Amino acid sequence: MEKLTEKEKELIRGSWEGLGKNKVPHGIIMFSRLFELDPALLNLFHYSTNCATTQDCLSSPEFLEHVTKVMLVIDAAVSHLDDLHTLEEFLLNLGSKHQAAGVHTQSFALVGESLLYMLQRSLAQGYTAALRQAWLNMYTIIVATMSRGWTKNGERKTD
Ligand code: HEM
Repeated sequence: MEKLTEKEKELIRGSWEGLGKNKVPHGIIMFSRLFELDPALLNLFHYSTNCATTQDCLSSPEFLEHVTKVMLVIDAAVSHLDDLHTLEEFLLNLGSKHQAAGVHTQSFALVGESLLYMLQRSLAQGYTAALRQAWLNMYTIIVATMSRGWTKNGERKTD
């Protein structure tokens, strides 16, 4: 697994301090952006409330739980910046579960774009080029590991 520089870790930790305290509202900004970028992703959430529109999804408790789950994965990564490898098994497994749920790896990149959008909106002046790059590097590590798990699961099925 790739490593982050000390400066990158400092930028990520500093910016997450406030955002991490309000996970759901920030997660909602992210997912609303995600559905703007690719409305077809709404169809992958099959809960008791059907996610036909972003508004439907946002009124589904199960969907909001998924928003929380995503934010908790980010929170775990921020808490383990010095030892991200300890999350490897978890992230491989998570990628494999998303393969089974019909989520394509390209969609993980769109979540990354939505994460940056949320950071830009929430941090305003604090959203610098260095901070953007630090978050992008961390998210790329998460997604690279999830994608490895995704591929492994896909291969297992076509064996
Ligand atoms: C387009 C992107 C994504 C879609 C469509 C998607 C969809 C889903 C679906 C359908 C499930 C199973 C039902 C559920 O638990 O709500 C799930 C589970 C989950 N997702 Fe996602 N997901 C996406 C991205 C992500 C990302 C980027 C993360 C974390 C970085 C993540 C974290 C989780 C977690 C932690 C679970 C629960 C897994 C478990 O049950 O052990 N998801 N996702």
